[in-house]
Amino acid sequence: NIVHVVLTGGVGSRLWPLSRKTKPKQYLDLFDGCSLLEMTIDRNKSIADRLIIVGNVENHSLSCKVMEKFSLEHSHIVEAAPRNTAAAIAFAAFQSKEEDVLIVTPSDHIINGEEEYLAALKQAIEIAENNYLVTFGIKPSKPETGYGYIEFEGNHVLAFHEKPSLDKASDFLEQGNFYWNSGLFCFKAGVFLQELQKQEPEVYNKAKTAWEANDSGFLDYDLSMQIPSISIDYAVMERSSNIKVVASQFDWSDLGSFESVYDYLVKKGHQADANGNILIGSAIHTSFIGVENCLLVHTPDAFLVVKKENSQEVKQVYQELEAAN
Ligand code: GDD
Ligand code: MG
Repeated sequence: NIVHVVLTGGVGSRLWPLSRKTKPKQYLDLFDGCSLLEMTIDRNKSIADRLIIVGNVENHSLSCKVMEKFSLEHSHIVEAAPRNTAAAIAFAAFQSKEEDVLIVTPSDHIINGEEEYLAALKQAIEIAENNYLVTFGIKPSKPETGYGYIEFEGNHVLAFHEKPSLDKASDFLEQGNFYWNSGLFCFKAGVFLQELQKQEPEVYNKAKTAWEANDSGFLDYDLSMQIPSISIDYAVMERSSNIKVVASQFDWSDLGSFESVYDYLVKKGHQADANGNILIGSAIHTSFIGVENCLLVHTPDAFLVVKKENSQEVKQVYQELEAAN
């Protein structure tokens, strides 16, 4: 069976104040009038036999609401606290059969080009059936430091580098045989679990213990907090030698920072002023004087002014506010 696993436990802290803990970006109806989670489920439903939604207890009701729009066979895995993507994917793998092929997707990306997307998935499924971990590579256009980089030769992955420094990322672009990691993965449930057990036995063991004690998909808080918080990228992808890559022809944006939101909006015809400044979320007349390439984000209870190239730093504001609460 082919199982679509959608990860919806992140809070999208780099898009604060648009994205909030109580309503992370995948639930906002900001892009094309429907939510990113809804688009993600829609995009994969023709190829998957089953859907598993892995999210946390704080956004569970938001996920249920989205599912009312579909009549799809699905189950929810509800995390008591976010323990990052290695554990989230492990839960879905434990719930599946070893031979099931999982298509693991984020819930908060924009993809255009459905035909190309489905063609890439079909290719990936075939490779995954031969017991590889499959990644989807995107041709990089700038030395973005918020992504993982896939060093490739043909469809073989030589190495995986998660969130490199700017120097390293610039180097990778120059060398040419690097893709961005799109954040989509495809593998058999059993193959992933074996690799996790080998690379991060503690995550594997603690996630297994927590999973075995689940109550209709709901995880226990204390057992969850025992699981080391690490992403699949650091835990498995950077260490495994069993990875293949499918070069993706579809149009992709992870809307992961205001810089990529900016690029996406401009591509969609959103107006920037003569100095490249844009306003999001307000109709109030706004002038930008003496500043360039800035975003002003307006929500009912917060303002953010950020220079486009400093977008990655928004996460720190979010963390400071979290800590103050
Ligand atoms: N269920 C669950 N639980 N989901 C989670 C958790 C968790 O604890 N943490 C994150 N997620 C979800 C997020 O909602 C998102 O859909 C997905 O997992 C990826 O997490 P991010 O936090 O967005 O990762 P990232 O953007 O820093 O990096 C990943 O994506 C990049 C491309 O967008 C990596 O895979 C990079 O290598 C990649 O380039
Ligand atoms: Mg992301």
